[in-house]
Amino acid sequence: MTRARPFLSSVVLLAAMCLATPAATLAQGTLNVYCSVQAEWCQGIANEFQRQTGVRVALTLKGSGETLAQVSAEAANPRGDVWFGGTGDPHLAAAEQNLTLAYRSPNLDKLHDWARKQAEQSGFKTVGIYAGALGFGYNPELLQKKKLAAPACWKDLVKPDYKDEIQVANPNSSGTAYTAVATIVQIFGEEEAFRYLRQLHRNVNQYTRSGVGPIKAVARGETSVSISFMHDGVTEAIAGFPVKIQAPCEGTGYEVGSLSIIRGARNLEGARKFVDWALTPQAQKLGADATQFQVPSNREAQLPPQAPRFADIKLINYDFAKYGASAERKRLLERWEKEVNSQPR
Ligand code: G6P
Repeated sequence: MTRARPFLSSVVLLAAMCLATPAATLAQGTLNVYCSVQAEWCQGIANEFQRQTGVRVALTLKGSGETLAQVSAEAANPRGDVWFGGTGDPHLAAAEQNLTLAYRSPNLDKLHDWARKQAEQSGFKTVGIYAGALGFGYNPELLQKKKLAAPACWKDLVKPDYKDEIQVANPNSSGTAYTAVATIVQIFGEEEAFRYLRQLHRNVNQYTRSGVGPIKAVARGETSVSISFMHDGVTEAIAGFPVKIQAPCEGTGYEVGSLSIIRGARNLEGARKFVDWALTPQAQKLGADATQFQVPSNREAQLPPQAPRFADIKLINYDFAKYGASAERKRLLERWEKEVNSQPR
């Protein structure tokens, strides 16, 4: 009986609040965030934004390609308010398809050029929140056991020695894997790239749904090598797993992890507040707090000392306008499906 009392009084209190509060104000109390970074960071931003503003955050965790598909499927009846993180290409495709809403945050001029460029390129329908370079992860203990050398170049990954040793995500669901396909196309030219991807296919033991799946498999000793964002390898190494990372010798692509407001957001005011907040150094520090080591987009945000240094990596001049365009993305994914994924291994 004594236990029932606090429950009863909270029901009474809630009922009284409902009567006193107009419906619109109540609706503003929740922000639906589609989140495409790792769960620990998503949870960190949800807790902190909620703590600072009182706005309740409801999280949906999905990869970049999957979130684009969801936002597109829900276009007639949008359920999400903002889309936080994930690679920039699908955010640009969403902008082009008018699935997201233009917003010029007052914090835009505090960002690095690459993050502002992402906003300008999309008519301000998305903005860069972090950057990360693509590379390889490998398990040195497993490689040693199998008497295999660590890979240094893209070309190494197609050597027959690595048969069944490589894991990468599926580029339809994962932005990481789409970045890999677009990177290989930009480095080798499209025809050569698809020849390469077919050879790689023979060495791939699994195409995972999410981009971090392969590096987690490397960490657990389930696969020797992965194609991953280099900062995701740092996360596993810091957690104590035998993981090393490598920047490919031919050069590599990178992501501009992005943030967009979903067109038709029910909590537009909360969504704008969230974008302003997510672009501050304080909010961007939550990535490193969750052991995620991307390069933050606010110029005043500290680069985590564990983050892979862009200056040490040979980066290609990744063409975001081209590979973020819906038609190009669709064409490359269809070609990959037909000429690579459907082939026997
Ligand atoms: C990880 C990385 C992010 C990246 C994301 C993409 O969370 O840390 O930098 O944006 O993967 O996820 P996806 O599943 O779409 O490849």
